[in-house]
Amino acid sequence: MEQINLNTKIVVCNYDELNDTEKKLINTAKEACGRAYAIYSNFRVGCAILLDNNEIISGNNQENVAFPSGICAERTTLFYANSRYPDQKPLMMAIAAFTNDNFTELSITPCGACRQVILEAENRYKSPVRILLYGKKKIYIIESIKNLLPLSFDESQLNPSV
Ligand code: THU
Repeated sequence: MEQINLNTKIVVCNYDELNDTEKKLINTAKEACGRAYAIYSNFRVGCAILLDNNEIISGNNQENVAFPSGICAERTTLFYANSRYPDQKPLMMAIAAFTNDNFTELSITPCGACRQVILEAENRYKSPVRILLYGKKKIYIIESIKNLLPLSFDESQLNPSV
């Protein structure tokens, strides 16, 4: 028998250690929380994506009384960015969450469905998406969604001859 140990690299820092672009992306994600439609959970999530053309796209979670019909902030934003600018690869993404009258102390992490969608973007544009997860206490930086989605299903498994 053998064991496989997977290694996940996450950089932990605080806001003051970020550069201006990273700060701007986080502030845009925080602003987007304010426009979320989250009347069922009161958990407002904002996302901001920096594209290769320097444009920043932002979005948030959109809930529905039929719960599965809602969508997370990450997918709202990435799908919009891809539909509006299909030729622009997403370089970096920031995520923030606001609940109980405040931004969360610790960062939230994308759900499984969002991880899969971010992975699709990385594969589509052949480029990693850097992810900044905002928390008031700590910010997590992840260089690629592959760190959060090890052993992911990809095209090589769908079509082994490619
Ligand atoms: N949510 C997001 O938008 N992104 C995440 O990463 C986690 C959860 C949303 C979905 C739902 O509207 C609310 O937060 C509570 O789960």
